[in-house]
Amino acid sequence: MSTTILLCPPIFYDVKYSINPWMKGEKVDHALAIHQWFQLKNVLSHLGLTIKEIAQAPDLPDMVFTANAGTVRGADVVMSNFKYTERKREIEEFSSWFKKEGYTVHHLPKNVSFEGCGDTVINNNLLIGGYGYRSDLKALRMTAEILNLDLLPLKLINPNFYHLDTCFTLLGPESALYYPGAFSSYTISKLKKHLHLIPVSPEEANNFGCNSIVYKHHIIMPANNESLADSLDEKGMECRIIDTSEFLKSGGSLQCMTLWI
Ligand code: ARG
Repeated sequence: MSTTILLCPPIFYDVKYSINPWMKGEKVDHALAIHQWFQLKNVLSHLGLTIKEIAQAPDLPDMVFTANAGTVRGADVVMSNFKYTERKREIEEFSSWFKKEGYTVHHLPKNVSFEGCGDTVINNNLLIGGYGYRSDLKALRMTAEILNLDLLPLKLINPNFYHLDTCFTLLGPESALYYPGAFSSYTISKLKKHLHLIPVSPEEANNFGCNSIVYKHHIIMPANNESLADSLDEKGMECRIIDTSEFLKSGGSLQCMTLWI
């Protein structure tokens, strides 16, 4: 299990365009965004995780969502191919960072969309991947092949939950949180063959309850999900809550701001 996380301090974070239904042009409180990000960084450091940082480019307001940079396994990284022009240039920044750190950097063909750990999570030898909005099924197949993983592809069907990490959180190798409203019943039955699933309510899903970060028995959860936190607490998980109001204005929260490397 990786114990290193890539973060991007949100110095130039903003909501300047709209590429998902949450981005409604609400004004960002910049000081508050920086405060919320530091809370995340502090909690991660307290858990003993190693933090690496990449500097944000001034013209790339969404670069703080490092989960979207790519998918990492060992020394290999498959870089994203962002769906929307607004984010495409992030790839130059992230690829040169990975090259400098000594990773083998893989690029998918330009005509397939892929948004890294926004849409993928690795569970042992299985790549669990979401497709339909930001990532193509073809990209998931190619990524699984490059990283030598089996693939469990999950079709996303709700535009509000446009990345897998907005509606699915792996809690451990055998269980996951998920929002049923983001998947078809066929996809849910496929998932149930692999994992014990704990559903979250529409309200918790809208509060980005599934965008939590899990490390061992710890879970860091976006605010306003207290009853979900309590129920996981009863299952032996230790929950911490962080308010990410400023990042929700961009359609992102805790998991989106972290990339396991
Ligand atoms: N505004 C960003 C976008 O729409 C938010 C990305 C959220 N990232 C994630 N991993 N879900 O691309």
